[in-house]
Amino acid sequence: MYRTHTCGELRASHAGQTVTLAGWVNRRRDHGGVAFFDLRDRAGIIQITINPDLPKEMLEQVANVRNEWVLQIEGVVQKRPEGMANPKMETGEIEVIAKTVTVLNPSKTPPFMVNTDNDLPDENMRLKYRYVDLRRERLTRNIVLRHKVIKFMRDYLDTQGFIEIETPIMFKATPEGARDYLVPSRIYPGQFYALPQSPQQLKQLLMVAGMDKYFQIARCFRDEDLRGDRQPEFTQLDLEMSYVHRDDVLALVEGLFTEMIPVVAPNKKLFSSPWPKFSYKEVLERFGTDKPDLRFGMELIDVSEIFAKSEFKVFQSALSAGGVVKCIVAPKSAEMSRKEVDALTESARGLGAKGLATLAIQAEGPKGTAAKFVTVAEVAEVKSKTGAKDGDLILFAADARAIVNKVLGGLRVVLRDKLDLADKTMMAFAWVVDFPFFAFNEETQAWESEHHPFTMPKMDDLQKFDTNPGEVYSDAYDMVCNGYETASGSIRIHRRDIQMKMFQMLGLSDEEIQTKFGHMLEAFEYGAPPHGGMAPGIDRLVMLLADEPNIREVIAFPKNQAGRDVMADAPSEVEPKQLKELHIQIRE
Ligand code: AMO
Ligand code: AMP
Repeated sequence: MYRTHTCGELRASHAGQTVTLAGWVNRRRDHGGVAFFDLRDRAGIIQITINPDLPKEMLEQVANVRNEWVLQIEGVVQKRPEGMANPKMETGEIEVIAKTVTVLNPSKTPPFMVNTDNDLPDENMRLKYRYVDLRRERLTRNIVLRHKVIKFMRDYLDTQGFIEIETPIMFKATPEGARDYLVPSRIYPGQFYALPQSPQQLKQLLMVAGMDKYFQIARCFRDEDLRGDRQPEFTQLDLEMSYVHRDDVLALVEGLFTEMIPVVAPNKKLFSSPWPKFSYKEVLERFGTDKPDLRFGMELIDVSEIFAKSEFKVFQSALSAGGVVKCIVAPKSAEMSRKEVDALTESARGLGAKGLATLAIQAEGPKGTAAKFVTVAEVAEVKSKTGAKDGDLILFAADARAIVNKVLGGLRVVLRDKLDLADKTMMAFAWVVDFPFFAFNEETQAWESEHHPFTMPKMDDLQKFDTNPGEVYSDAYDMVCNGYETASGSIRIHRRDIQMKMFQMLGLSDEEIQTKFGHMLEAFEYGAPPHGGMAPGIDRLVMLLADEPNIREVIAFPKNQAGRDVMADAPSEVEPKQLKELHIQIRE
C-alpha cells in the first residue's frame, strides 16, 4: 500500500495514529540535525519531521532529498509542541514523525518553484512544464474548482430532467462566426470533416429526435484570433430544450448558477437576485457595451439636450451631424493629474474617439479641457442631470452615437480598474435580450447573423425581413457577468421556410444551402418541435470564480497566446507518408 491517508486530510484528531503518506517534497529545512519536509499531494501539505535517531542508511538517503522528489513516509501523527502550530496551514496543528523514508522517485531541479507564486517565469516556460505548473497550489485549486463546477452542472441538470448526450467531433462545418478546423479524410480524397464550432446543429437535431432536454459538457473548436478570454478549443455547457419560450431557458440557467455559486465558491456573492434583464438597446445606451460590468455605477448619461445650443464647437459639430454628447462621472477624480487625463484621452482615442473633453467639478468653478467652452448654466444642468458632486471628474465624448457608446463604455472599464470600483467578491450576472437579428458587415457590405443563422426572429418582425433587415429583432439572449459574455443562446428556427429565408438573406445560393445545411432543412420537415437553448462558456465562468485574469489559468493544458501547445510542440510537421495517405501536398 502506497498510502493510508492523503497529506492534506490529516488533523489533530489523527494524533497518535501511524500513517503512510506519499507525495512531493514541497520544501525542506534543516535545523541542528533535525530535517523538516513539507510533503505535498493534491489534498494539501503536511510537515514531516525527520529525527537524527533513524538508521544511518536512511539518514544518508534523506540527506540527498530535494524539492519535488517523490517520497513515501511512514510515521506517527503528533500534535506540534506548544507555540509551534502554524495557523496558516490546514494541517498546521500536527506533524508526522517519520519512522521510515522511501524515495519513490528523485526529481531534477524543477524549472521554476512550485511552492510559491512569486518569481514565476514567462508563461511559455510554465506551459512547457505544465505538469509541474499544475502542482502549484493555485492551479491545483483552479482545476478542482473546475471539476466542482462541472459536477454541479451535471447533478443539477439531471434533477431537472436533462440527459447528457455526446455528439460527434468529426462533423460538418457549424458556423459560429469563426474559421473551421478541418480534418482531411484518408478514404475520401479531397474531402474533409469539420470540427464543430459548437454542437449547435446536433443539439437541434436531438430535439427533432425527441430527446426533449439535452446537455453536454461540449468541446468547441474555433480558428479565431486569440485573446485572454478565448482559446481555439474551449468548453461549453451546451444545452437545449423542447417546447420552451425564452424565459423558460433563462429561468433554468439562472436557477443553475444561483444555486451553484454558494456551493462551489462560497467566497463569492451574487450581486443581485433575481438577475436584472436589459434589452440590447438599453444596455448599449447605459453601459456602452453589450457585456456590461454591473458591479459599479458610472452609467453613460446623454447630455445632448443640455448642449443643444452650446458654443463649444466640438459638441456643436457632433450634434449638428446627428450625433450625441454623453458623459460619465468618475468619482473623486477632479484632482487627477494632467498626465492621468492624457492617458485617459489616449485610451479614448484608441477606442475611436477624436478627443476627450473633461470637467473637474470644484467649489471654485470647473476646470478641465471643456471648462472654458461651457457656460455656468450648462455646468449646473450637467451637475443636476448626472448627480456629479464637487471633487468628481466628468468625461465627455461627442460623436456618432455608436462611437460615443463604445468610447465611454471602454473608459468605464479603464476607470473601474484605475479607481478600483468593482467589488471582487461579487458575481454580477445579468441577461441581455432582444438582440438585432442581423448585423451589417461594413467590410463585406453584407448582412450577417448577429447570433448564428439558426436563431428565431421575433415573429412580428418577419415582414421587415426584406424591407428593413436592420430593424428585425431576434429571440436571442446573452448571460453576462462582470464585463464578460458568459453565455449565449436563442429560441431556434424550427420551420423550414423561415430557415430557408434566413440562409437566403445571408447571401447563400440555393446550391450552397443544400450542400451545407440540406440535412437541417430536411429534418425540419419531419416534425421538428419548437425549441431553444443556450451555452454558458465554462472556461470564462471558472476564470471569474477563481479570480484569474485569463482562461488559460483554469484549463489544464491550454494553448499559448500564439495558439501553440508548447509542451508537446503542436502543431507540428507530420510524416510524408501520412500526408500522402491524406492526399495532401504542402505548398512552399
Ligand atoms: P457562442 O458562440 O456565443 O454561442 O458561445 C457561447 C459561449 O461560449 C464562450 N466562448 C468561448 N470561450 C472561450 N474561448 C472561445 N474562443 C469562446 N467562444 C465562445 C462564451 C460564449 O458566451 N451555439 C451557440 C450557443 C447557443 O445558441 O445555444 C454558441 O456557441 O462564454
Ligand atoms: P479642440 O477644440 O479640438 O482643441 O478640442 C477641445 C477639447 O475637446 C480637447 O480636450 C479635445 O480632446 C476635446 N475633444 C475633441 N474632440 C472631441 C470629441 N469628439 N468628444 C469629446 N471631446 C473632444
